[in-house]
Amino acid sequence: MEFKDVIYKRQSIRKFTEQDVSQEDLEAILDAGRVAPSGKNSQNWHFVVIRDRGMKEKIGQAILDKNELIAKKMDEKDPEKGLRFRKLAKNFSLFFIDAPVLIVVYATVYHCVGYYEYLFAEFPQEDIDKLSRSDPGMQNIGAAVENMVLAANDLGYGCCWMTGQNYAADEIVEVIKKETGFEKEGYFLACLLPIGVPQEGAKSPGRKELSEICTFL
Ligand SMILES: Cc1cc2nc3c(=O)[nH]c(=O)nc-3n(C[C@H](O)[C@H](O)[C@H](O)COP(=O)(O)O)c2cc1C
Repeated sequence: MEFKDVIYKRQSIRKFTEQDVSQEDLEAILDAGRVAPSGKNSQNWHFVVIRDRGMKEKIGQAILDKNELIAKKMDEKDPEKGLRFRKLAKNFSLFFIDAPVLIVVYATVYHCVGYYEYLFAEFPQEDIDKLSRSDPGMQNIGAAVENMVLAANDLGYGCCWMTGQNYAADEIVEVIKKETGFEKEGYFLACLLPIGVPQEGAKSPGRKELSEICTFL
């Protein structure tokens, strides 16, 4: 695909056909993530690939359980809000189950230059928090995930970058550990990336104009 088409035709895909993703293509997608840039070349990511439907369903159940726990507490204050939160999970956090491939993106922390210096010099927590807003650790993950998203699109697949389930991050990591034994010390869930052949009809929201998000000085 033309570079411009990969960028401009990409959409978040939440409905997939039953067609599989070949191992060769999957490895090409993962490799695009591998070569992404990262602060001090820290490469603070780890990709776990899940094809097994049973596993995906168990992850989905962990999300639903945590969602229900939160929603019940919300019900006590406002049942409308609880209901809305339940709907959000059903519509935007479970569709990965039907994707043939799920990449679970793990990350470990990588702090800004100055973070440990602030700690050492005993700067106020407020300054440390302020510095951490531009956390390069998560920017690294963004670069790796976007590389994978674009590589998947280039190969004719669709995917959806997902963080909406991250309130159940620990529970998801626990399911994976319980079912497969996989764990990676110091790593946590950053996002999910389901990949497959897109069903037609995906709709994407518009974007702000360049004049709104860009200032030429
Ligand atoms: C970091 C990130 C997290 C996202 N999390 C979710 C998610 O949890 N569930 C979902 O359905 N879409 C999720 N999206 C997709 C966005 O909703 C989507 O990118 C946005 O609405 C623009 O639509 P488009 O990707 O089709 O252009 C996420 C996107 C990004 C970049």
